[in-house]
Amino acid sequence: MIRVKNLTKHFGAVRAVDDVTFHVEEGEIVGFLGPNGAGKTTTLRVLTCFHPADQGSASVVGFDVFRESMQVRRNIGYLPESAPLYPEMRAREYLDFRARLHGMGRDDRHQAIKRVTEQCWLGEFIDRPIGQLSKGMRQRVGLADALVHDPKVLVLDEPTIGLDPTQIRETRHLIKELGERHTILLSSHILHEVQQICNRTIIIKNGRIVAIGSPDELRQRVSASSPLIAEIKGPAAEIKKSIAGLAGIGSIEATSTDGWNRLAVQPSGEADVREAIFKLAADQGWTMREMRREVASLEDFFVKIVAEQQAPGN
Ligand SMILES: Nc1ncnc2c1ncn2[C@@H]1O[C@H](COP(=O)(O)OP(=O)(O)O)[C@@H](O)[C@H]1O
Ligand SMILES: [Mg+2]
Repeated sequence: MIRVKNLTKHFGAVRAVDDVTFHVEEGEIVGFLGPNGAGKTTTLRVLTCFHPADQGSASVVGFDVFRESMQVRRNIGYLPESAPLYPEMRAREYLDFRARLHGMGRDDRHQAIKRVTEQCWLGEFIDRPIGQLSKGMRQRVGLADALVHDPKVLVLDEPTIGLDPTQIRETRHLIKELGERHTILLSSHILHEVQQICNRTIIIKNGRIVAIGSPDELRQRVSASSPLIAEIKGPAAEIKKSIAGLAGIGSIEATSTDGWNRLAVQPSGEADVREAIFKLAADQGWTMREMRREVASLEDFFVKIVAEQQAPGN
């Protein structure tokens, strides 16, 4: 439904999006996760034909974002980071106005407004002036706006930002429900939110994609690259040297007390090196009293990404 290939976009000297490639399949809810300034909005704006890219290609429902923008707009519903709503208009009038911009006739507009009122749980609020609605309710009007022409794909930019906890919970629930009928790409800087709503996550940092996968896949990747702690009795230098010689070992830090060597082993890739270490110790006749993974959570991984991003001189 969405294909993005080697997309790059600069703002002056800033490379906001850097060689980004990903796809979203029909029926998926995909989270675009990254700290502030990562390039989420810029990417979503390219997809919604808001601005061009410098390099690469992108398509939505098979239509080229750069050459077939009319068809792309017809198939995509976009909820921008801050939706420009008109406070003096009633929600119904606003949605009617927006539907007219999509070229919809009177009957179609009437039907569409009825549909989105239900889909977005607007109820009687549809006849209230937008300025009198709560922030959460205004966000639902924004979603109704994105859905009024019944697009196949929904693109939501930080849909829960600025909402209170109850509104956040309701909005997440609503998005999940919308995901039953629409393919959704939503951006967020909150790991927990993406884990809750999405089947798959794309993590972006400094304009580059650093990881893509389901929550389980990401957790596995993160824990596979977590350090191992092994405690082995035997000749310190030889133990360290032999383990370092195994495949898939990145670095080792060793400390020794009472004849026991405590080794913190950082794998170089995602392969599981525990079996090789165990076999080595057994072959050499070294006693091992512990081997465990210092399991990093997805949370740790994401916090690390954000911290690196904010480090000075980065
Ligand atoms: N219109 C713009 N003009 C100049 N720089 C921009 C503009 N929009 C975004 N940027 C820069 O591009 C980078 C990515 O921004 P953005 O896509 O908004 O990130 P995110 O949505 O992930 O917070 C940031 O460094 C930001 O300052
Ligand atoms: Mg943004």
